[in-house]
Amino acid sequence: MHEDIEKVLIDEDVIRRRLVVLAERIIADFEGKPMVAVALLKGAVLFVADLIRHIPLPMEFELLNVSSYHGGLKSSGEVLFLDNHQPDLHGKHVLLLDDILDTGLTMEAVTKKLKDQGAEDVKTCVLLAKDIPRDTVKEADYTGFVIANEFVVGYGLDYQDRYRNLPYVGILKEEVISS
Ligand code: XMP
Repeated sequence: MHEDIEKVLIDEDVIRRRLVVLAERIIADFEGKPMVAVALLKGAVLFVADLIRHIPLPMEFELLNVSSYHGGLKSSGEVLFLDNHQPDLHGKHVLLLDDILDTGLTMEAVTKKLKDQGAEDVKTCVLLAKDIPRDTVKEADYTGFVIANEFVVGYGLDYQDRYRNLPYVGILKEEVISS
């Protein structure tokens, strides 16, 4: 385990097995539809790479660069679109993937943008969802794990752009955050 990690919350094997289950549901819903997977940078990169290899459907794949945390521990409340890439989504069924559903602002803002770009339908998929009340997106269409309202890192999730490469989801030691 990495020396900065207090506790592993979800280990590699558990993640791997859960992704197979999520993929089966996604296949059942998207089969026969023109599919585009849209993953949010940077947090969803490990998740999407592992998930879509279990989805043997024809699909296009896009990455969207957005930011709402700006490196810290709390959502800034503002979703920034960091690039101008606007794929034509007319008639497409979008699977929108992110690492974690927290306040839900990101999923809400991106879903709206994708629909404005012509998407026929947008289904949301997250590895993690914090167990908190939300006024925005209540829950994703596909959720890997519901977790307590704690700050987590690993498997794509970062603190100040570190720890994304950890193969598990974990909680940082307090002294790492306060230092
Ligand atoms: P909202 O609040 O828009 O947040 O649902 C989604 C984005 O916020 C980031 N986020 C986290 N990043 N550990 C992280 O490393 C966390 O516990 C955490 N909670 C939210 C993440 O980038 C996500 O896309």
